[in-house]
Amino acid sequence: MKGIILAGGTGTRLLPLTAVTSKQLLPVYDRPMIFYPLNTLIKAGIKDILVIVTPEHSGDFLNLLGSLLRKFGINVSFIVQPAPRGLAEAYVLAEDFLDDASSTLILGDNIFEDDFAEAIQTFTGGGRIFAKEVADPERFGVVEFNGDYQVLSIEEKPERPRSRFAIPGIYIFDNTAVAIAKGLAPSPRGELEITDLHKHYLGEQSLDVRVIRGAWFDAGTHEALFEAGAYAKEHNFASNFHPMLNDAIREFNVEFKKTISLKK
Ligand code: G1P
Repeated sequence: MKGIILAGGTGTRLLPLTAVTSKQLLPVYDRPMIFYPLNTLIKAGIKDILVIVTPEHSGDFLNLLGSLLRKFGINVSFIVQPAPRGLAEAYVLAEDFLDDASSTLILGDNIFEDDFAEAIQTFTGGGRIFAKEVADPERFGVVEFNGDYQVLSIEEKPERPRSRFAIPGIYIFDNTAVAIAKGLAPSPRGELEITDLHKHYLGEQSLDVRVIRGAWFDAGTHEALFEAGAYAKEHNFASNFHPMLNDAIREFNVEFKKTISLKK
């Protein structure tokens, strides 16, 4: 099982915060946003992680994450997404990195309180998505399912949602995701939609869903970003981080201070 963090996109809804930096590098309380999805993957035991970045900010991601986890046996690699062509494009870009492995894709602006280790480690094939009950499902991909957690329908930002369950930005797919993504046609908004990938697995009856109960933030707006930061502070989210990642961050800070004093 490999991991992918999609940190592309233009972040226009967060302007002017995103005028000179990437959305996924903005602070969520005491650490850059991307550390939260990174934590979710690391807590699930994933050791091979690809970060998909924009050309403008690739250097910043490399400076922050390039050697952060090297000594902890976690391999972080990077690839540039030249233009945002949709979430499903992640699988096309990740083809060589995946090398026929299954993967967990997490969106770089999605912050989860839940632990996904069990859902990731028990995955055997097909596709697995998640569902979170929300008040405004029309803002998201929406999943309808029966009492056995079998998926009945998937819709991207429907005007009249068939359920109150949004599909959060974490997806587990087997190695066929690359071929499926390559075969997708762009949607009317010109993007390869992740929900079209879900629908493909649904058509093959190989898609299951798990309900998440903990907090979930899609930190793509000023309000959600602010709420995520406040939640992280109030709930001491740092204690929800893998101890190894907390150690890596502490060591990063020490090394960073050393380079500053060398420059003086
Ligand atoms: C994307 C997906 C949507 C999903 C959401 C989760 O929407 O298209 O299915 O529910 O992420 O954050 P976006 O936020 O890119 O509009």
